[in-house]
Amino acid sequence: MVIVMGPEATQDDVAAIVAVVQAAGVEAFVSRGVRRTIVGLVGDVAQLDQGNLRGMAGVRDVMRVSTPYKLVSRENHPERSTVHVGGVPIGPDTVTLIAGPCAVETPQQTLAAALMAKRAGATLLRGGAYKPRTSPYAFQGLGEAGLRILADVREETGLPIVTEVVDAHDVELVASYADMLQVGTRNAQNFALLQAVGAAGKPVMLKRGMNATIEEWLMAAEYIAQRGNLDIVLCERGIRTFETATRNTLDVSAVPVAQRLSHLPVIIDPSHSGGRRDLVLPLTRAAIAVGADGVIIDVHPAPETALCDGPQALVDSDLDVLADVLHTFPPLLGRAPA
Ligand code: E4P
Ligand code: PEP
Repeated sequence: MVIVMGPEATQDDVAAIVAVVQAAGVEAFVSRGVRRTIVGLVGDVAQLDQGNLRGMAGVRDVMRVSTPYKLVSRENHPERSTVHVGGVPIGPDTVTLIAGPCAVETPQQTLAAALMAKRAGATLLRGGAYKPRTSPYAFQGLGEAGLRILADVREETGLPIVTEVVDAHDVELVASYADMLQVGTRNAQNFALLQAVGAAGKPVMLKRGMNATIEEWLMAAEYIAQRGNLDIVLCERGIRTFETATRNTLDVSAVPVAQRLSHLPVIIDPSHSGGRRDLVLPLTRAAIAVGADGVIIDVHPAPETALCDGPQALVDSDLDVLADVLHTFPPLLGRAPA
C-alpha cells in the first residue's frame, strides 16, 4: 500500500501516519520528494482501514499495490484451477455445460428437463429446490422434497447436481444432497452464508452479485476460501445497468478480467443474464468465445407452465443447436466440451 501526501502536508501529518501504521505492526518507508511525500507500507496491510487513512490530515490518496483477496488471487496461485464436481471438470481445458430446470417442480418435469440437458451435452444438472424470489407470493421452491427429486433424477441419469442454497441454516441439508452448492446473485454478499458453504465440504458456484464489482465478487469468494474450500467456480450472470431491453446486462469482459485476477474457473449464465430464450444461444457463443470455462443454462419441457423463469428456458427444438455450439466452438479455442 502506498500513501501519497498532498503538497500541504506537514511533518506532523507524516509522523501521525507513520505512528498509526507502525502501531498496526506495518513498516512505513517515507520518501520525501520536492513537491510531495510518499509513504510506502510493507507488511500485513489488510488490517489497516484504507478509508481511515484517507481521512487523515494531509493525505491525498491511498493506493493498494496488491489485491485485497489472497486465497483466490492469481498472484498467490498463478496456475488456473480446475474444480471437479462429481468427477466432472470445470476449468481451463474444457467448456462444461450445466443445464436443467430453473426450479424443480415435479419429478416428471425434472426428469424431462434432465434428459433434455443430457441430449444437449450437459454433464451436470442444475435445478433449484430453494428459489430466491423477488415476490414472497411467487413459487419459493419445493425445499427438501425438491432435493429428493434431484437425487432421484441423478440416480436415473447419472448427472451430478448443482443446486442453490439461500439460507445458512439449510447448508448442511442441501449439501447432503448436492454435488455442488450454488450461491445466487441475491446472496452473493451474504457473508454468513458464504462462510457456511465454505465449511460444507462441497464445491461451490458463486454467482456475481447483480450490483457487485469484480473486486467485490472476488472478496465474496475469499470468504468461502477462508473456510478452507478452494473448490469455487465463479459465475457471471449479468449485472444491473440502465438497459431494460434485457433482464440484466451480460458483462462478458468480467470473464477475462476475473480469470486474470483469480485462478478460479469462471462460467457464464446466459439464461439469467439475457432473460429471454432467443438470447441464450448467441450469449452462449459469446461466452465460449470470451474464454468462459462453462455455461449454465435453463431448459424446460413446457416453459409456458414453468413456475419460475419460463421465458428464458430453452425448449426441445433449441437443443440440437446448443449441442452443436458446445461441440463445435470449444475445439476452435483449444478446449474440449466437458
Ligand atoms: C431464478 O432462478 C430466480 O429465482 C429468479 O430469477 C427470481 O426472479 P423473480 O423472482 O424476480 O422472478
Ligand atoms: C438461478 O440460477 O437459479 C438463480 C436464481 O440465478 P441468479 O442468482 O443468477 O438470479
